[in-house]
Amino acid sequence: MSPRRISRPLNTLAAPLLAAFLFGTTGILSAASAQTPQPKAPDTIAARVQGCTACHGTHGQGTDNDYFPRLAGKPAEYLYNQLMNFREGRRKYPPMNYLVTYLSDDYLHEIATYFSQQRPPYPPPSKSAVAESTLKRGREIVLHGDPAKQVPACAACHGAKLTGMEPAIPGLVGLHSDYISAQIGAWRSGSRHAKAPDCMHEIATRLTDDDVNSVAAWLSTQSAPQNPVPAPAGSLKTPLACGSEPQ
Ligand code: HEC
Ligand code: HEC
Repeated sequence: MSPRRISRPLNTLAAPLLAAFLFGTTGILSAASAQTPQPKAPDTIAARVQGCTACHGTHGQGTDNDYFPRLAGKPAEYLYNQLMNFREGRRKYPPMNYLVTYLSDDYLHEIATYFSQQRPPYPPPSKSAVAESTLKRGREIVLHGDPAKQVPACAACHGAKLTGMEPAIPGLVGLHSDYISAQIGAWRSGSRHAKAPDCMHEIATRLTDDDVNSVAAWLSTQSAPQNPVPAPAGSLKTPLACGSEPQ
């Protein structure tokens, strides 16, 4: 598989600034400005997550960058699990690890809930440059799996409409193919973990590089359905146990 192609225009300088913004009214900045009273920005959750929107879009819809994912409309518990994973080092991307280091569980919950409730439109699906046969293979795995390799259909857990399932399975529409293949690659290489049993690790290791590229390419060409909300909790019977789901 091609190596992770990551654009990181904001990483080095922006992360500390954004962290300062997030802590703005209570922490780092207030200490620095103790002598000179500053006009206070409105302390709403929407104002506080502005530091996140540079990479994730104003309403968490993602950006044109191939690697900055959509957050909007993903189940709150899924988003919360990821923020915890970044904070505890089970998932690695330095700007994210840095930003959430000092945020409390309650604050992470509030942020996760905020983005789960956002409903910005989905971007138009990507036009893929890959061969038709690759897209066909991707569609087959996503909708029907590959029984010979014991790969279940992705739709069995991510839903027939690929919008995920409450409370902790994310939708797969509206993501770039580079982001999707990098995440599956991270599960294979052990740099992304979910709560045990980590069903995505199991599945990722059963796929070949070509399979990963195929599913990522096909998924990125899919339009969002009419009502792109996650399926209700318990409405799908997942073919493998996933620790992030309530058992
Ligand atoms: C410098 C750009 C940048 C900033 C700023 C940023 N993120 Fe991220 N975020 C990313 C990237 C890139 C990923 C994917 C990283 C990976 O796993 O490889 C990510 C992943 C995530 C995920 C997991 C998404 C998923 O679907 O699994 C969540 C949740 C998230 N970010 C929330 C936030 C929040 C909340 C903030 C503000 C506190 C924030 N991000 C600020 C770049 C950024
Ligand atoms: C047995 C259920 C199950 C099946 C089958 C499954 N997934 Fe998942 N998937 C999950 C769960 C649960 C998560 C959330 C894991 C976590 O908390 O990090 C997830 C997360 C993901 C993510 C991360 C999304 C993001 O925004 O970062 C991707 C990408 C993904 N799955 C792709 C696939 C693909 C492709 C297939 C089919 C080859 C597939 N999944 C099959 C349960 C499943």
